[in-house]
Amino acid sequence: MCTPADQTATQKAEEADKLIRKSHEAKAFSYSPYSKFPVGAALLTEDGRIFTGCNIENASLTVGICAERVAIHKAVSEGCTNFKSIAIASDRADHFITPCGACRQVMREFGTKWEVHMTKPDMSCKTMTVEELLPMSFGPKDLQTK
Ligand code: THU
Repeated sequence: MCTPADQTATQKAEEADKLIRKSHEAKAFSYSPYSKFPVGAALLTEDGRIFTGCNIENASLTVGICAERVAIHKAVSEGCTNFKSIAIASDRADHFITPCGACRQVMREFGTKWEVHMTKPDMSCKTMTVEELLPMSFGPKDLQTK
């Protein structure tokens, strides 16, 4: 569990715990008949909204999409692009679920300073920033030619 050290950290830990719980709830909606690897995500926006997502696979295998991108795309499609944190959940008890490279790049599009809580089913988590998960990344400003 994310251990609080003071009051501010306590509030942060409570916020993270709620997001983590929501990511595990979202996992229940996973459509993953091919991999049988359910994943859930819960995304907290700067203005306090939470968007959830699950992985959605397809018989045309490459068309599937990860839980993180579903949550992010739901948020962006409703006008939210400022993110505070995202929690990711799988059923693996021995391993903190980590986002794939494509999801890291999609996260990075919306900033490098926000947090990613990688969780286990016991609600424990390892937290890293987008920058830590995708160092030296290519982002919107890199497209500028002058
Ligand atoms: N998956 C996610 O949804 N998020 C991750 O962080 C890793 C992988 C999904 C994609 C696919 O549906 C299944 O897990 C197996 O790779």
